[in-house]
Amino acid sequence: MEVRVHRLVCLTGFMGAGKSTAAQLLARQVGWPHVDLDKRIVDATGLEIPEIFAQKGEPEFRRIEHEQLARVVGEAAELQQSRILSLGGGTTVQPQNLALLRQHRATLVWLECPVEVLLPRCAQITNRPLFRDEASFRRLYEQRLPFYQASDYRVDSNTEPLRVVEQILALGIFPKVTA
Ligand code: S3P
Repeated sequence: MEVRVHRLVCLTGFMGAGKSTAAQLLARQVGWPHVDLDKRIVDATGLEIPEIFAQKGEPEFRRIEHEQLARVVGEAAELQQSRILSLGGGTTVQPQNLALLRQHRATLVWLECPVEVLLPRCAQITNRPLFRDEASFRRLYEQRLPFYQASDYRVDSNTEPLRVVEQILALGIFPKVTA
């Protein structure tokens, strides 16, 4: 009997860590579909992330985020298909999301990057509602570190996206391709 095993490899980390870019490149390399959770939220609501925060507030954003995450992992399980999933910076901080990912045996890879590097990256990009000022950014970073540290693996994302992908591939979490 053929046993089919589907896997979810999720990239987590703070805003600006390069989760979406690395996930896209990684998916191309391993030949798995890539799902970006923020993009799923935008597609499902027809609203940009800052619009959701402004019009509905953060609790409603978190509700939608959980709903979409549940859909993504549910689809992967139903189709028995593996996925590379780029999460939002706050996704694994929400206990219900972490529980869902653990229940589906997702592998969590933390893209670690110093706050000094993330600050200028995020200051230039205007679509991040949780980037208010430097002090609150640093506070949020500190608050979230323990959640990211609870990931299964850590890679250094203070480097080029291709180097990030190389580190993830070197973790040995992907099945070996045999000729
Ligand atoms: C958030 C990060 C954002 C997005 C939303 C909330 C967070 O994603 O999900 O603005 O709580 O840190 P990125 O990490 O991709 O910026």
